[in-house]
Amino acid sequence: MVDLTCEYLGLKLAHPIVPSASPLTRELDKVKQLEDAGAPALVMHSLFEEETKSEAEHFSRFLHEQSIGHAEANSFLPEPVEFNSHLDNYLEQIQKIKQSLSIPIIASLNGVSTDGWIEHGKALQMAGADALELNIYYIPTNIFESSQDVEQRYVDLLTEVKRHVSIPITMKLSSQFSSVAHVVKQLENAGANGVVLFNRFYQPDIDLETLQIKPKLEYSSSMESLLRIRWIAILHGQVNLSLAVTGGIRGGKEIVKALMAGADITHVCSEILVKGPQRISQIRDELSNWLEGHEYESVQQIKGSVSYKNAIDASYYERANYLSVLDSYSHAPGVWR
Ligand SMILES: Cc1cc2nc3c(=O)[nH]c(=O)nc-3n(C[C@H](O)[C@H](O)[C@H](O)COP(=O)(O)O)c2cc1C
Repeated sequence: MVDLTCEYLGLKLAHPIVPSASPLTRELDKVKQLEDAGAPALVMHSLFEEETKSEAEHFSRFLHEQSIGHAEANSFLPEPVEFNSHLDNYLEQIQKIKQSLSIPIIASLNGVSTDGWIEHGKALQMAGADALELNIYYIPTNIFESSQDVEQRYVDLLTEVKRHVSIPITMKLSSQFSSVAHVVKQLENAGANGVVLFNRFYQPDIDLETLQIKPKLEYSSSMESLLRIRWIAILHGQVNLSLAVTGGIRGGKEIVKALMAGADITHVCSEILVKGPQRISQIRDELSNWLEGHEYESVQQIKGSVSYKNAIDASYYERANYLSVLDSYSHAPGVWR
């Protein structure tokens, strides 16, 4: 029997296939199905900064600026205690999940600014979250904001949240930095316990009839895992924090590659949303069968075996890969004469 156990953010997990943030954790029965299907831990859907901010603004306007003018009529306004905010609902959901499940729960905060919402981290910890994922989905559109300013924003946010919580914190990052490895190192120095590579940037589409910009959700393909695997491989051995892959993990083979690159765990989202929770145990079996078939005894045995540090020819994680890919081009038969 292959030993699939692993450790992530100091949490001992039965195997490295963890459902990532998705709408599934909004419903208790779906969460239970994920645990029953073998999920070793769960990342919750995010609490979004925009939700908590706009709610706070509405609430304050409602209380302070919308007085009707008649004492009697004003008394019709609901008592503040009746107001159930996004944060309240989120905290309630963590508590319910913690009461019904025995696996670790990672809460998720999603935002870009340091004002106010970071204190929510403390509330999430008190509600029972075992760890916290910070997703800073930030698109720097200001031409005067430098790369250094953008990176500092990440470090400041982490530092602020660290001041409020003691549970482990992992940072879900974009790949769009000029030096990914340096950013991760800075985050490690600022106290991050892990990183999750990488956020998928859903690209807005233009509707050619209405000329409106439309959001577009597409599920990932396994090819997307390669970008993540490359950067995990580069980081493995150079940083001392937990490494997770998110994006393009659709089956056991991607997981073997991610582990060989040096990942501690992998996250699965699209595959579960499309095919259902039973994919967790199926993928676990795919991983286990692959390892057994190749005479490995544990996931630990393969971890980092093909990282930048340990690969037979690490130059393929660098420019050499680019050159040999271009070099491998040959004309499509029958297309060019
Ligand atoms: C419908 C949907 C909802 C998602 N919600 C969140 C979220 O609330 N917070 C977050 O950090 N990521 C969210 N994600 C991103 C996923 O957690 C994951 O990182 C991404 O889909 C890449 O993994 P995959 O290739 O396995 O789908 C969501 C993805 C989808 C498809």
